[in-house]
Amino acid sequence: MLDIVIEVKNLTRFYKLKEGNKIALDNVSFDVKQGEVFGLLGPNGAGKTTTIKILTTLLLPTAGEAKVLGLDVVTESQKIRDNINFVYGGERGVYGRLTGKEYMYYFCTLYKVKHREQQALIERLLDLVGLKDAENQIIHTYSKGMIQRLHIARSLINEPKLLFLDEPTIGLDPVGAKLLRDLVRELSNRGITIILTTHYMQEADDLCDRIAFIRDGKISTIGEPIQIKESCNHLNLYEAFMSLDQTNALQKDKMFKNLEVDELKDPFVHLKFETDSLAETEITSYLEQFGQVLKLRKREISLEDAYIYLMKDAG
Ligand SMILES: Nc1ncnc2c1ncn2[C@@H]1O[C@H](COP(=O)(O)OP(=O)(O)O)[C@@H](O)[C@H]1O
Ligand SMILES: [Mg+2]
Repeated sequence: MLDIVIEVKNLTRFYKLKEGNKIALDNVSFDVKQGEVFGLLGPNGAGKTTTIKILTTLLLPTAGEAKVLGLDVVTESQKIRDNINFVYGGERGVYGRLTGKEYMYYFCTLYKVKHREQQALIERLLDLVGLKDAENQIIHTYSKGMIQRLHIARSLINEPKLLFLDEPTIGLDPVGAKLLRDLVRELSNRGITIILTTHYMQEADDLCDRIAFIRDGKISTIGEPIQIKESCNHLNLYEAFMSLDQTNALQKDKMFKNLEVDELKDPFVHLKFETDSLAETEITSYLEQFGQVLKLRKREISLEDAYIYLMKDAG
């Protein structure tokens, strides 16, 4: 079995616009190993979907090289397609008048699954994505999360070794998003390599073995979530619970960086902020000007903190 299932080297993609060329991917290189959940994270317009479209052979690169399962995306696209699949977040259920099961039969036929194998496959896949009980319901009546899981069931028809999920939890409610994450984990446990984009840092931290931060078509950081967080260990992030008499006065003050104030039950607030090198006693006595400090503590760096910090740097 291949160890490296995606190999991207100096990948570049322009879009031709009337005003001139727009560079969407700028000399990007990375690898994905067999069995990984690999996350591509970055702001809107960073180049995530462009990367996925090239790797799924829907879009040609302008320059550079990309191999999927050892196959070239330009010259061996059909062989790649036979072995991968993808789901785009927020895909519309354009087949809303079909039942979930009918939808699956339709795609089994498109994928040329043998007639006598279709029923068992569909039952297995609908069961896997948790839609067995809803299989005879019209898709129109499904929640967004159910539709998304149906799309995933569809994407598994050709038994892909690699699955690309572009913002799979976008627009889902918390329960729907959790079910989807559980499903991603289950697929990964079954040995499918997963390439995922998401805007939710906690989700990426929970699911991904490795992550790449991408911005303006360039990858700035790549590594395991824990390594990425550790690379930001020098940040002095604190949180405090306090009663605050003058919210505005504190917010106007420039003592702390990236100050966030969450209002709790009046007059209490939860503060998050960054300091350069103040001692805790100094922070406390400073905050005491504005109210009474109940608790002050150093905060663990989350992937979101690292993202905000590293992306700011990259810009
Ligand atoms: N079909 C297109 N034509 C022109 N520009 C495009 C097209 N698709 C994407 N872009 C541009 O390429 C850049 C990267 O887009 P995209 O890959 O969709 O980013 P992301 O998925 O990270 O939000 C953006 O600036 C976007 O506006
Ligand atoms: Mg996108």
